Amino acid sequence: MSGMPYDTDPAPACRPTDPAPARRSTGAAVRRRPRTAAAGRQEPDGPVAGPWIDDPYAHALGTGRGPLYLRRLTPPAPPHAAAGEGRLLPLDVERWCAAPDAVDTGVLDRCTGPVLDVGCGPGRLVAALAARGVRALGVDVSPAAVARTRRRGGTALRRSVFDRLPGEGRWGTVLLMDGNVGIGGDPVALLARLRTVAAPGSRLLAEAARGDVDEHLTVRVEDAHGRHGRPFPWARLGATALRRAAETAGWSVTDRWTAQERPFLELRRPPPPGRPTAAGRHGHP
Ligand SMILES: C[S@@+](CC[C@H](N)C(=O)[O-])C[C@H]1O[C@@H](n2cnc3c(N)ncnc32)[C@H](O)[C@@H]1O
Repeated sequence: MSGMPYDTDPAPACRPTDPAPARRSTGAAVRRRPRTAAAGRQEPDGPVAGPWIDDPYAHALGTGRGPLYLRRLTPPAPPHAAAGEGRLLPLDVERWCAAPDAVDTGVLDRCTGPVLDVGCGPGRLVAALAARGVRALGVDVSPAAVARTRRRGGTALRRSVFDRLPGEGRWGTVLLMDGNVGIGGDPVALLARLRTVAAPGSRLLAEAARGDVDEHLTVRVEDAHGRHGRPFPWARLGATALRRAAETAGWSVTDRWTAQERPFLELRRPPPPGRPTAAGRHGHP
C-alpha cells in the first residue's frame, strides 16, 4: 500500500501471509505455523488457529452483535467486584462494530499519521482515519476482524503484533484501544515491543481499564450460551498501572485524560538526543 511507512509490500497489506521470519512471541496470542505443516485448522501461511481466531469472537464479528465476554479462569474474580468486572468481562462488540463515537473521535484527533492500530478488531478507527485522509493500518490476528476492517474501507494485515510488522520504527502513532494493552498478558513486554515499532518522537495512545486495577489473568472468549475458545493470558490495567508499565518499557507519559469514564494515556517515545521528531502531522512529515 503506498504511503505507508514501508517501501514495498507488493501484495496488499491485508493479505494473510507473512514473508518475515518467525520472531519469538513473548506472550503472543498466536504462533507462526511451520512452513511445512499443513493440517487441521491451520491456514496457508497464516497464524496457527488460537484465541480470537477459532472462538465465538469470529461469529460475533460476523453478526456485529454480542453478548460476548472474556471469562476469567484464573485468578478468581475479586470479592465485591463491580458489575461487569467479575467472572465475565463484557466485550463491547456492538460499539466496536459501529462508527467511532465522540470518545473515539477525540482519540482520532490526536493521531499523527501514519497510524498503526494494534488489535484493530473490526476496524472502526482504521476506517475513520482513512476517511480523514490519514494513512492507517490495522493489525489483528482474527481473520474476521481483518475482513470486516477491509469491508468498511480500512487497510488491515492479519498478523500478531509480536511478529514482524511493516514499517517498524516509522509509525507516527500507535493505537492500543479497548483494553488492548492486555494483548499477550504481559503489558511491559507489549509496550516494549511497540517502542520498537513506533518512530522516535512518536506517540502511543492507550486506553486503560476503569478503576485502579492491575490484573494478570487467564481468560477465554465466551458467548452467552457458554460456547468458548481456548484459554489465553490477558491483563487489565487502570491508568496508574498502565503509567507504571509504560515507564518501565521506556515510554514517557505526556498526557492523561478521561472521557465518558474511559481513561486514556498519551505516551511518547523519546527521540534520540539532539534529533528532531520523525513524525509529522497527518502523515506528512
Ligand atoms: C479487546 S479486542 C479489541 C477490539 C478493537 N480494538 C476494536 O476496535 O474493535 C482485542 C483485539 O486484539 C486482537 N488480538 C489479540 N491478540 C493479538 C495479537 N497478538 N496481535 C494482534 N492482534 C491481537 C483480537 O483479535 C481482537 O480483535
